[in-house]
Amino acid sequence: MQLLKDRIRKDGKVKEGNVLKVDSFLNHQMDVKLFREIGKEFKRRFEGEEINKILTIEASGIGIACIVAEVFDVPVVFAKKTQTKNIAGDVYTTKVESFTHGRVYDIIVAKEFLGKGDKVLLIDDFMANGKALEGLAQLVEDSGAELVGAGIVIEKGFQPGGDILRKRTHLESLAIVESMDEKTGEIVFRDDE
Ligand code: G4P
Ligand code: NA
Ligand code: NA
Repeated sequence: MQLLKDRIRKDGKVKEGNVLKVDSFLNHQMDVKLFREIGKEFKRRFEGEEINKILTIEASGIGIACIVAEVFDVPVVFAKKTQTKNIAGDVYTTKVESFTHGRVYDIIVAKEFLGKGDKVLLIDDFMANGKALEGLAQLVEDSGAELVGAGIVIEKGFQPGGDILRKRTHLESLAIVESMDEKTGEIVFRDDE
């Protein structure tokens, strides 16, 4: 998506450890007009697929998923992250091991909001190792819902998440970063269109 790649080049900041900061329009301050264009692009890329629910994960996936859900005109649910051992109530849960943050956490969705008959599109802002997305896909599977696909705003193409998720479902990433140079700030994107 050219508009997004241009924006990443203009306002993205390459930090040490292959971290891309996009706090000025995606992760902290949010450019809702851009989100709307992103929503329309996902709608175009998943044209012809039957989708009746969006699933994302807190925190930074929620903003983008809300706008995408508005474009698709479907409800949006976010998985909650928790470190509590005894999870109360009727929930689906799985563990996510984040290498980026060096910790394991549980994610949960109430059974009330995910289940048979749901045709689910996963949405998230970033994918690196893909553990968060794998966890969401697992919750969908456990619930008896159908996983239709996954839409990612920025994929770090040099990390393994993309390959893993492409084997499992229809993955669409709007910008795939192949490499970043923290000294020059140069960002190379995979030629995806
Ligand atoms: P992981 O297995 O290494 O943990 O990778 P995963 O793809 O699951 O991403 C882990 C978290 O790190 C995600 O946020 C993701 O958005 C974030 N992340 C990874 N690389 C980058 C990067 O280069 N830039 C930015 N801005 N974020 C990155 P999260 O743990 O779900 O937290 P939250 O921010 O959504 O609360
Ligand atoms: Na994040
Ligand atoms: Na996220």
